[in-house]
Order: sequence, then C-alpha cells, then structure tokens
Amino acid sequence: MMTLAMATTALAGVWRTGEGTNGNRWWYDDEDGTYAVSEWRWLDGNQDGIAECYAFDSNGWMYANTTTPDGYVVNADGAWTVNGVVQTQSVNSQTQDASQNGGETQGNSRILVAYYTLPETDGTNTDAGASRVAVNGQVQGNMEYMANTIAQATGGRLFEIDTVQTYPGLHEPLVNQAARELDADYRPELSTHIDNLEDYDVIFVGYPIWWGEMPMAMYSFFDEYDLSGKTVIPFSSHGGSGFSGTISVVAGLEPGANVMRNGYTVSRGSVAGDAANLRRWVEGLNLN
Ligand SMILES: Cc1cc2nc3c(=O)[nH]c(=O)nc-3n(C[C@H](O)[C@H](O)[C@H](O)COP(=O)(O)O)c2cc1C
Repeated sequence: MMTLAMATTALAGVWRTGEGTNGNRWWYDDEDGTYAVSEWRWLDGNQDGIAECYAFDSNGWMYANTTTPDGYVVNADGAWTVNGVVQTQSVNSQTQDASQNGGETQGNSRILVAYYTLPETDGTNTDAGASRVAVNGQVQGNMEYMANTIAQATGGRLFEIDTVQTYPGLHEPLVNQAARELDADYRPELSTHIDNLEDYDVIFVGYPIWWGEMPMAMYSFFDEYDLSGKTVIPFSSHGGSGFSGTISVVAGLEPGANVMRNGYTVSRGSVAGDAANLRRWVEGLNLN
C-alpha cells in the first residue's frame, strides 16, 4: 500500500493519509476539490496498468481489512478480494467517469453514449426502489450501468450529462426538488459539454423517468445541442412508467434528428440483471 502514496493514477488523483490519529487512514483526492466518498473506485495506484477496487465511506475514508457495508471483503491494503484473491481490472478496459475528462471517455467510434443518472443513496439491485447497481464491487447509478453496458457493446464513447448544482441523494427531497423544477420548467446549468459533436453519427441518450418526464437536465441538454442529421437512440429506466411518452418529446426537441422510436427501457429493479438483454438489443441494431 505504501507504494500507492502520492502516486498519480490514470484519473489524475492521488492517495493521501489523514492527519493526527487518522494518520494510518487513507482517502483519495481527485485534486479538483472533490474526493472519493460513499463509492467504489477502480484505481491503479502504482500505474502498472492494473487497477484494484477500493471502497470509501461517507466521510471519504478507505475501508481496510473489513467487510464493507454492501457486503464485500477488502484486505489490509483496502483492495477488494474474493476468497483472498485481489480483484483486478486492466486500466485500458475500464470505463472511466466521463466527468473526469471534460465529459468524454476514450474510445474510437462515431457512437456517443450520453446519459444522465442521479443514483439515490438507499437500495441497490433488486431492492425496492433501487436506483443503483452493485456489480463486482462497483456501485453505479442505474443509467450509468446501462450506459456502460451500451458503450462496451458498441465501442462508443461515454458522456455523462451532469449539472453544476448538486441534488439530494435521499428519495423524498430529490422527488420534491424534481417536482419544483418540473413545475418551473427550469433548465439546470450543465457542467459537462460535448466538444466534438461533429465526430458522432449515432447518439444514445439515456435518462431516468422523473414524474413521468425526463429530468429537466435533459431539456438543458437538448437545448444545448442541435442533433440534426444524427441518429438518436433513447434508453431509460423507470419505476413503472416505461418511456412515458418521452421519446416523442425528444423527437419534438430535436426535429432534425432521426430519433429511434423503439428505444430500450427497463424497470429499476431489473436493471442489474438485464445487461445481457440490453447487450443483445444493442447488437441487434447492427450499428458497427
Ligand atoms: C425524482 C424522481 C421521480 C421519479 N418519477 C418516476 C416516475 O414518474 N415514473 C417512474 O416509472 N419512475 C420514476 N422514478 C424512478 C426512476 O425513474 C428510477 O429509479 C430510475 O431507475 C433511476 O435511474 P438513476 O439511478 O440512473 O438515476 C423517479 C425517480 C426519481 C428520483
């Protein structure tokens, strides 16, 4: 673990220890004013091309030598282990947080996978109301997980649609804030932007259903970009509403685009187990 000290990772962050009595505890500094908190991260501390997976608590401390609250074993170095074997991932095969790179991840295609996600902080996988997927020690928002699956199936680039303002993770305040924004026809300012829209012919656009509509950040997104001449493929997750008419809304907001009317939607409690179906659907589109 000591070799991780001060080493930069592929994501340009840095491991740090606490001060005083926290001198033997580790946290991960993103060096942009944020740090890893309440999440799992694949991190390649010694830059050998192999990342290990680490969990961080709600204060940002790395879990070590314990079982994490979501039930995974981490060793004394904090690395996720299964039956004593440290789990690893090749750095090049990782899909990294799009926001770390001006919104876009590495890739090589004419396909962009844009998505908006607001993972609620209670419940994963098939839990009632689950808005997050926990797979192989990584916790992702439902739409993030679906976007990752699509990007892997297509070789497309990932783009996270994110906002300047933050949203509550708890269901009740989030639902209330979303209702207020919807009533006000509000347009949240986006913090991520596509630099090279002209490079893409096909744009997957993913969003959760909020109050039977798209989250207002999606309206900001469609206001910002003219997708004329591009194929737009909607995908979503929901708690029972299906697409709820949002594909027609997208087509109305992007009249010059070829908006695919039969996008892909899945119920939130099924997202975690649905990757194979989603992959099959994507492959059936014959985009490559
Ligand atoms: C503010 C809010 C409003 C929601 N409204 C609806 C709704 O009207 N219909 C529905 O089927 N699901 C609704 N849901 C459930 C989400 O669509 C579902 O949990 C989705 O999978 C969340 O995806 P995410 O974790 O990527 O953000 C709502 C969720 C939130 C947070």
